[in-house]
Amino acid sequence: MLKKVTKNYGKQICRSLHAISSTQQTTSLPPSSCPWSNAKPYEQIPNYSFWEWSKKVGEGRKAQDLRLQDILQDAFDKTNSEIIKIKIPFLGDQLFVNNPDDVQTLLQNDGKYPDEPVFEFFEYYRTKKRPDMFGKCPGLLGTKGKEWGDIRTAVNQDLMRPASASYYLDDIINITEDLQKLVEANMDGEKVVHDLTPFLFRYAMEAVTAVFLDTRLGCLQEPQPEQAKELIKNVNLLVGEPLAELVFGLPIWKLINTKPYKIYNDASEVVHKLSSDLVDQGKQKYLDSKKSQKGQIKMLGKLIERCGLESPIPHAMAMDAIFAGMDTTGNTSSFLFYQLAVNPEEQEKVYQNIMEKVPAGEALSVPSLLDMKLVKGAMNETLRLMPVVQGLGRVTQKDLVLSGYKIPDGTRVNYNFVYTMKKEKYFQDADKFMPERWVRGHDKGKKMHPFAFIPFSYGSRMCVGRRVAEMEMQVLIVQILRKYKLEFVGSKPIGLKGGLISTPDSPLTIKFIPRY
Ligand code: HEM
Repeated sequence: MLKKVTKNYGKQICRSLHAISSTQQTTSLPPSSCPWSNAKPYEQIPNYSFWEWSKKVGEGRKAQDLRLQDILQDAFDKTNSEIIKIKIPFLGDQLFVNNPDDVQTLLQNDGKYPDEPVFEFFEYYRTKKRPDMFGKCPGLLGTKGKEWGDIRTAVNQDLMRPASASYYLDDIINITEDLQKLVEANMDGEKVVHDLTPFLFRYAMEAVTAVFLDTRLGCLQEPQPEQAKELIKNVNLLVGEPLAELVFGLPIWKLINTKPYKIYNDASEVVHKLSSDLVDQGKQKYLDSKKSQKGQIKMLGKLIERCGLESPIPHAMAMDAIFAGMDTTGNTSSFLFYQLAVNPEEQEKVYQNIMEKVPAGEALSVPSLLDMKLVKGAMNETLRLMPVVQGLGRVTQKDLVLSGYKIPDGTRVNYNFVYTMKKEKYFQDADKFMPERWVRGHDKGKKMHPFAFIPFSYGSRMCVGRRVAEMEMQVLIVQILRKYKLEFVGSKPIGLKGGLISTPDSPLTIKFIPRY
């Protein structure tokens, strides 16, 4: 059994790699060719002051307007370098890179068990601070090494296959219909919704719990059930700005309960309690449907079948999905609506593509969805121009040369891709929203560097929720654009703000113009 799972896991990675190369048209570049012996010493990497960094992060938080990408870009500009070092007291050095060639070298030398330094907070919190909640299995976010590899092997088959998400198409279509009704009920006389983003969080939470737990929480009902409201509020708190401080600031929270730690810990308790109840209900539903041999087996049931009823992995995976699956997909959907609404010509092309593949009156199917290249292109363009997850990190597992410097094994290297994905050097007409650039053979796609666009990361630690997230966003856009033309009627352009997960910096005000 284990052998079979491992073999399939190998296939998954190959497919993931293939997926990257097949959506991007460049031929793969060789990683850094500068040999170790010719590289400059590590000590010569330009330093950026930790105190300057902390001051800016603190100011951003105080103003409730944290923009990590701007702080980093300023650091790269001031040091005039594509690699910088920040010496963090007690934690050691953090490197930041800004060049996709370095990212390629870094990620292609990931080792068997990629080590993500950003997740160290979760590991410490789950195993040292709150083993009472996470002791049985700290999940993908709370483990590393072989322990992480075993969980990932167990969940990959049901999550990462391109076909795995399509199994939930009907559920997602039903949920988009509920969202549509909710949005329609909240339009004013001019058919304007004054802030769409909170509705999209509700959509994302309803979808992720339906897929993983086979439950309809009622997030899109009015009024919302208390349980749904509490879950959304607390997941929002969990991934908000306090988390950025816990992950990137001094680890004082290990010794005393700082304010960000308290916010995180309180929210974590609520989410743990609510999601544990949901997992218990989901388990019971799975057992009942097995007994009666009726109903489809959903993600939780599939994981139970793979890992065993007593295994803590299905529970841990469902909790990670609730934690990681709402703000990411909710905010990306929000940016996707925005980009379509402010680019009416591109919106029209996407609409025509939809109508060509699913004419009016026809139901959406998996093959037609896969065939809508501009819908996928619109999603990719949104992730490129307005990425909700700003980057990734690795602890190096062997000596590497990055930007011509010697980087010893065991170094923490971070990559924030917000600005890289907008550089003319890597994308033609980089600041333009052009879904067509993702259509194979299109001229505008020729210049792309394969490691300049990795919003879901790359390799064996890439986002495990990618397939589900993509399906949620594509179905949403198809269903809404078939019925409405979108127009942005907000007072100022929307930008990214936030810490680990970016949110729109002002309300997303959209006018929905009926097409028929
Ligand atoms: C637009 C939506 C999303 C984006 C852009 C996104 C992006 C990412 C990125 C960049 C990583 C880090 C990988 C690394 O460090 O190499 C990640 C990890 C992860 N994501 Fe997502 N994500 C999204 C949606 C989701 C959803 C819907 C889920 C629900 C299952 C999810 C669950 C996770 C988990 C559990 C990890 C940790 C994986 C591991 O360590 O093995 N994500 N995601």
